[in-house]
Amino acid sequence: MSAPDTVLKVADLGVSYGAATAISRLDFEIRRGEFVAILGPSGCGKSSLLNAISGLMAPSRGRVVVDGDELYLPRSRDPRLGYVFQAHRLLPWRTVKQNLEIVLAASDVPRETWDARIDEILGILHIAQFRDSWPMRLSGGQRQRVSIARALLVDPSYILMDEPLSTLDEVTARSLRQELTGICQRTGATVVFVTHSIREAVYLADRILILTRGPSTIFEDYRVPIERPRDYDDARIAEVEADIIRRIQAPWGLGPAEERQSA
Ligand SMILES: Nc1ncnc2c1ncn2[C@@H]1O[C@H](COP(=O)(O)OP(=O)(O)O)[C@@H](O)[C@H]1O
Ligand SMILES: [Mg+2]
Repeated sequence: MSAPDTVLKVADLGVSYGAATAISRLDFEIRRGEFVAILGPSGCGKSSLLNAISGLMAPSRGRVVVDGDELYLPRSRDPRLGYVFQAHRLLPWRTVKQNLEIVLAASDVPRETWDARIDEILGILHIAQFRDSWPMRLSGGQRQRVSIARALLVDPSYILMDEPLSTLDEVTARSLRQELTGICQRTGATVVFVTHSIREAVYLADRILILTRGPSTIFEDYRVPIERPRDYDDARIAEVEADIIRRIQAPWGLGPAEERQSA
């Protein structure tokens, strides 16, 4: 039986590519307003998981339930979700505003409210001045802000993010992490955030689903014991990070050198 405020329920989920199993079995639930990080080593099936729970890909086994509705596949993408891909996936021949309008056109948001909505979300992400710019004229950080704006645009039931900050320089990533925390607090958004950065997961998330190496299962469902607002340089974040690293070292097959790299 699910809790009444369950947004997403994943049961007995398996993903295979032909004979190769990427996800062996996952069961978890996410409640409204939760920020859940999915942490796992490269190749363990994190992107496959997001694709399966977004409906971009049919799982080979199991169930995905969104807001109480069974997700039947194959079908088109669920309009109730926002997806931030690792690559920004903005159309280069359309301006920022036009890229956002594509999402609105696929939603039931009335056209007369589009402009106000676009201006509001760009304002929240501090990129209002780039509304009529071409995506390729923007920096990596600005483009990633646009893809986050695109995901938030239609008030999704939940937002999936696939390593959205991993290609950015550390200063930009820090500012976006802080921004993201603020937006989630204000809007009560439900977020599933994939990362291989342990510290990022500890800083951002209420809960961390730590996966095993592929084909993945859940190694641990970990609740972050640090109240908000958090400071990225808080010694407790570093302590929790070190503690997680100690516990995953053997199951992830990490030696001391790789441990530093993956942190
Ligand atoms: N389209 C595909 N066809 C075949 N194998 C794939 C495909 N996509 C991913 N895989 C394999 O599935 C496993 C999980 O991949 P992925 O979900 O991308 O992992 P992660 O995002 O954790 O790095 C990997 O072994 C990868 O090689
Ligand atoms: Mg991936």
